Amino acid sequence: MNLILMGLPGAGKGTQAEKIVSEYNIPQISTGDMFRQAIAKQTSLGLEAKTYMDKGELVPDEVTNGIVKERLAESDTTNGFLLDGFPRTLDQAQSLDEMMQDLGKRVDAVIEIRVPEDVLVERLSGRYICRNCGATYHKLFNPTKVEGTCDRCGGHDFYQREDDKPETVRNRISINMKNSEPILSYYENKGLLHSIDGNREINEVFAEIQQILDK
Ligand code: AP5
Ligand code: ZN
Repeated sequence: MNLILMGLPGAGKGTQAEKIVSEYNIPQISTGDMFRQAIAKQTSLGLEAKTYMDKGELVPDEVTNGIVKERLAESDTTNGFLLDGFPRTLDQAQSLDEMMQDLGKRVDAVIEIRVPEDVLVERLSGRYICRNCGATYHKLFNPTKVEGTCDRCGGHDFYQREDDKPETVRNRISINMKNSEPILSYYENKGLLHSIDGNREINEVFAEIQQILDK
């Protein structure tokens, strides 16, 4: 199953991706995570990506398309994959089509998680991440563990992302809003788009995703 998960920053892509990959046994390909790993390793890709990410801007298409193309060629994608946060521009969507054609594959479904803007800001400003394993929490929702123990790894150290500062959050949301409309129409015209209400309990959102994928 080759899936795309879309949604504005804070919509819950990472949260739902974790559940999807464990239920359907496919790898998660998150361009944001790949860039953050490159930044942590201080590679040239990371240094370039950081200049855009710190401002909440998109990393240029040719860079992003390049890392996805390499990642999709890896063997663990044979039985499917979940793209999280890619494509984010029409150019990326068209490049993905070319990559899929070259690999003899096709996208099976695109799931868009919709959440009102004020809720997105609230979610991002309260997000905490486990420094040890990357699990995502929130100071008010999604187990309020930020001062306790990580459910996944038992770690005790949580941090807030650099680009979750209020001024950067607004910029990320508006840039992504502008870019997402044409991609949503692109996939709607192909009959692949499923838009779901993400302003509900995490497990309710996941239940709807399962209904779509199990059809
Ligand atoms: P990326 O890492 O992809 O960030 P994003 O799209 O901004 O999305 P987030 O990870 O912030 O949010 P999410 O939807 O995963 O929400 P989460 O599940 O954590 O990208 C970062 C940057 O990298 C970009 O700005 C760009 O610079 C660059 N980049 C990445 N991809 C790119 C591309 N394709 N092209 C160009 N540049 C690219 O949830 C958020 C919070 O809400 C958490 O605290 C969570 O616990 C909580 N929560 C989740 N669901 C619920 C719920 N149902 N109810 C209550 N709380 C919830
Ligand atoms: Zn952890």
